[in-house]
Amino acid sequence: MIITIDGPASAGKGTLANSLSKKYGLAYFDTGMVYRAVGLQMVLSGTPFEDVAKAEDFAQKLDFPTMMELAQHKDFRSDVGGKAASVVAAIPGVRSALLKMQQDFAKNPVFANGQKANGAVYDGRDTGTVVCPNADVKLFITASPEVRAERRHKEFLSKGIDKTYAEVLEQIKERDDRDEKRASAPLKPAEDAIIFDTSEYNAEQVLEKVCQIVDSY
Ligand code: C5P
Repeated sequence: MIITIDGPASAGKGTLANSLSKKYGLAYFDTGMVYRAVGLQMVLSGTPFEDVAKAEDFAQKLDFPTMMELAQHKDFRSDVGGKAASVVAAIPGVRSALLKMQQDFAKNPVFANGQKANGAVYDGRDTGTVVCPNADVKLFITASPEVRAERRHKEFLSKGIDKTYAEVLEQIKERDDRDEKRASAPLKPAEDAIIFDTSEYNAEQVLEKVCQIVDSY
């Protein structure tokens, strides 16, 4: 079984994908990682984002071990990594170079320990539209920018990261804008996706509702 979860930043896709992968014994592919890996390599090598050829080169050479190594870097998950990811993700050549790696995972899904899984949960922006157009269940998880900023701000506070709510909201809106307006694979629900606005629900409630959908599949 392949489940795709697309939606904007901080909508709760990762939490949901993790829970679904545990509940149904599916491997998990957080596809934002491939773009974060390319973006971070641009930042670490001091390459300006205008250097499209270099970004495409990093994307063509990316493999799982390199991505997992880059994931250890402090900026991989930070806003620096998030912004860099969304900038390189708008480059068509970067997207096409990273597509095969993402699609191959569905053919041979494995858990982090290398054990074979019976399927996979993908999370990202285009996993239901481009990466796995034949997925069994497609979800589009969203929430208002204000609710997402509030959730992210709380997460920052709990980690001791000093950022105001206004700064977080601005960054979320900026990232939404870039993801929705890019020409190549813009963020939008697949035609056959189930759209779920989680603004009024907590993570447990979201999981419960989504499990009802998956169980009926
Ligand atoms: O989900 P995450 O915040 O890690 O994604 C980082 C960035 O990578 C997103 O803002 C988006 O620009 C890009 N991305 C994408 N397609 C995906 C996953 C992520 O364009 N499938």
